[in-house]
Parts: sequence; C-alpha cells; structure tokens
Amino acid sequence: MRVVSGIQPTGKPHLGNYLGAIVNYVKLQDEAHAAGGECFIFLADLHAISQPHDPAELTQNTREMVATLVACGVDPAKTVLFNQAQVPAHAELQWLLTGTARMGWLNRMTQWKDKAGKNREGQSVALFAYPVLQAADVLLYQATRVPVGEDQKQHLELARDIAQKFNNDFCAEDAPLFTLPEPYIPPTAARIMSLRDGTAKMSKSDPSDMSRINLTDDADTIMKKIKKAKTDPEPLPDTEKELEGRAEAQNLVGIYGALAGRSVADVLGQFGGQGFGAFKPALGELLVDTLAPINARFRELKDDQEALDAILARGASQAREAGSATLSGAYRALGLVR
Ligand code: TYM
Repeated sequence: MRVVSGIQPTGKPHLGNYLGAIVNYVKLQDEAHAAGGECFIFLADLHAISQPHDPAELTQNTREMVATLVACGVDPAKTVLFNQAQVPAHAELQWLLTGTARMGWLNRMTQWKDKAGKNREGQSVALFAYPVLQAADVLLYQATRVPVGEDQKQHLELARDIAQKFNNDFCAEDAPLFTLPEPYIPPTAARIMSLRDGTAKMSKSDPSDMSRINLTDDADTIMKKIKKAKTDPEPLPDTEKELEGRAEAQNLVGIYGALAGRSVADVLGQFGGQGFGAFKPALGELLVDTLAPINARFRELKDDQEALDAILARGASQAREAGSATLSGAYRALGLVR
C-alpha cells in the first residue's frame, strides 16, 4: 500500500481541504503504517507557480501548510512529508511524461477550462501542463491510493491514462514501469460547497472569506460564518431524498455528518423537522470543537521555522531516495543515455 497525495500551499487551507482530503491523509497514513506500507504527502509548490503568485507569500504559505498538516495529524514519523521543489525528480519525470501526454487530453481537463476561462492564450504553459506534473507526482512513487476530493478525480484518471500509454509504448508487456493509481475519494464530503452558494465549490480562491471556514478561524468567526451561511426558509426534511434540490441545506447537513462521523440519514433523524435556527448553532459548535485543537496545535508550531524546515528537509531526502528507481526506469525506457 503506497499512499501519495499533495496539496497546494496557496492561500489558507479550508474545511473543504480538511474533510475532502486531509482527514483521509491521516486515516490512510495510519492504515499504511499498520500494514507495513508507506505514505507520501507533499506540498505542491511547483503547481503553485502555474498562476500569478507572490514569492514571499509562497515561502510563508509553504511553512504554514506544513504546520497545518502536522496540526491535523499528519505525522512526519509515519509519513514522508515534503515539498516538490526539494525533489527534482517530480519536474524531471514530468518532462519525460510530456512526450506521452496528448494535447487533446489536457484540453479536456475541466480545471484547465475553469481556470483559463476565455483567456486561454494568456495562461502560463504551466497551467496547461499542470496535470502532467500531477501524474508525475503519483507515478514517481508507484502510488496505489491517492486520497483527494472529487475535483481531482479527472486529473487522476489522466494520470492513469498517461501511465497506461507509457507502459504500452515503452515497456515489455510483463514489465510495466508504472502502477496505475486509484483515487480514494470519501463517500461523504468529497465536495464541500461554498457557504454563500451551494452550487460553487468551497475554494481558497473565492474572493469572499465568508464563503469558507478556514482551519485557522477562531470560534467567533466560525459561529458568525455559519450563522450567515446561505440557506432556504424550509425546515430540514426527514429524508435524504427531500434534500435534493436544496444545495445549501444539503451542504450543511453533509458537513455535519462528515464532522460527526454520521450518515446524512442519521443527522436528519435528529434534526428533521427543525429549522436552521436550531441546526446552525449545533453545526457551529461541532465545527469549533473539531477545529479548536487543530488551531491550538497550529499556533504552537507555525513560528518554529527551523523545525518546519527540518521536517521538509528530512522528508525530501526520503522522497528523493524513494523515487530514484522509477525515475531511472523512465529514462531507460525512453532510451535516454545517462
Ligand atoms: P488543492 O490544493 O486545490 O486541494 C487539496 C485537496 O483538497 C481537496 N479539496 C476539496 N475537497 C472537498 N471539497 C472541496 N471544496 C475541496 N477543495 C479542495 C482537493 O480535492 C485536494 O485533494 N492539484 C491538487 C494538488 C496536487 C495533487 C497531486 C493531489 C498536486 N499533485 C497529486 C493528489 C495527487 C490541488 O490543487 O489540490
């Protein structure tokens, strides 16, 4: 079992990142550790330069993201925790895979279409090639399981397509180089939506801070954001079926269920028939209780630059070692003399 996943150190990590991905980093880290497998979690800093960014902010966000992940339970003793920039094999393998990836495949990526909008000509080459780097990230470590939110599913399917084509084109049938990675998408919370618009994903790039719960928000801010969250005038229904078409209600009930480790049906069993005036304070308190210890731990860790850099340096050295055989295999398969 090889667990591999990444998160961009841009902006503040939010509840969508937490419930959609980070809780599963921790869950799979522990499962892998118990089963004698391995877990690699990295900060996708090379991905972060695909869009306009402030270099000083990127440096600070990178350290803060390490502190956040550790505060959430990613344990550097069980997980190889690092940033891409310290492991050149990610960029190298990406280039080797650009010979296999097809323009048409990348053109179909919904994230490329969303981010580029109408201005494709003005985008960086990095934004277009972004999913090839993502494929390199997981294929380098022969990932078997990749914990991600729903929005990364298409990128992982592309990683499988690239792996398969490379294996077909350059490897003997009985000796494929790359393992095909399986996405691990949580059944609930795979897509946490904005608190202001139940049809838009909760996102670091939303200009309104009221649209998301940041993992570093304090109790008052969380309660205020939940109180102001968009809803509809109806009370909560008794069944999951009746939530359909009520995007905001569905999102809040889903968040409650994911935080409490309970099914949506179970949550509705408790709150069905009640209005948001009763449900929202309960949700706010559950959020505060979940995030308070993470917040406290984050504050302890975030200013110890030396300790954070040491975690990354150690992780990077383990990652360089772990990826070296696959990288050499890719050079060899392509006939490149080294
Ligand atoms: P990023 O940094 O946008 O998000 C990190 C993780 O959080 C999940 N996520 C969500 N899940 C549920 N609801 C939401 N609203 C929500 N928003 C974000 C994402 O699905 C992701 O799992 N391209 C990736 C980073 C990456 C990567 C990789 C991931 C680079 N290489 C290799 C996996 C494997 C990204 O930008 O994630």
